[in-house]
Amino acid sequence: VVSEVAARATQLLSQRFGDAIRVVVSDIEARDDDLLEAERPHVARAVPKRRYDFAAGRRLARTLLGPDVALPSMPSRAPAWPPGVRGTIAHAGGLCVVAVTEAATSLGVDVEPWTPLAPGTARLVLSEAERASLGPNADLDAKRAFCAKEAFFKAQWPLAQLRLDFLDAHVALFDDGFEIEPIVATPPAIEGRHRGFFVTVDDYVFAGLVISAS
Ligand SMILES: CC(C)(COP(=O)(O)OP(=O)(O)OC[C@H]1O[C@@H](n2cnc3c(N)ncnc32)[C@H](O)[C@@H]1OP(=O)(O)O)[C@@H](O)C(=O)NCCC(=O)NCCS
Repeated sequence: VVSEVAARATQLLSQRFGDAIRVVVSDIEARDDDLLEAERPHVARAVPKRRYDFAAGRRLARTLLGPDVALPSMPSRAPAWPPGVRGTIAHAGGLCVVAVTEAATSLGVDVEPWTPLAPGTARLVLSEAERASLGPNADLDAKRAFCAKEAFFKAQWPLAQLRLDFLDAHVALFDDGFEIEPIVATPPAIEGRHRGFFVTVDDYVFAGLVISAS
């Protein structure tokens, strides 16, 4: 059973990602019985919540890529997508989102409960300049900025494999999107500003980002 929130999020994210990208959101079920052999070792010693999160991502990936597609994790913890596929996974607050494409682009997605980011955390993930540019609902905006940075981290990984810290990129927020730019030396593939989008549904915020692998 797909909740209304998950169904609506799937619809809105599909619109924002566009035709070349398939995306689906679901509620996270308390089960991991459908993990494939190649996937099980990655969560064999994990707590149940982590196993259910991991399994939800694999289940959704299979709805997009086919029932036999195994998705082990690499040592970096990024998923090992099948040849020719680029994808991204996020989970939080009982929701899981997976986006995939066969196009020459790199994807990043994140989902967070859209609650205020504690000021102490905001100071760790946002620079003074970023914090100064937040709107009147600064703590909620800070959560959007955090979400955008996590999505960017995932999107840059297949192209640049940088262990970026939160303060290594600058994000500027708009009503329904953001621009993010690394402020440390990077490979050309991820240099410059990248435009991403937000989708908000109920008490959740999603950030999505596509980096063209040109
Ligand atoms: C990797 C990271 C972004 C994942 O975010 P998270 O909030 O812990 O968890 P999420 O549910 O959103 O995402 C987890 C998924 O990200 C994916 N992921 C993990 N490492 C990844 C990597 N190096 N590259 C791409 N995707 C990765 C995996 O699919 C993972 O789910 P799975 O293990 O079930 O397959 C986060 O753990 C992290 O290291 N953040 C610090 C760095 C950062 O964000 N810097 C900001 C730069 S501006």
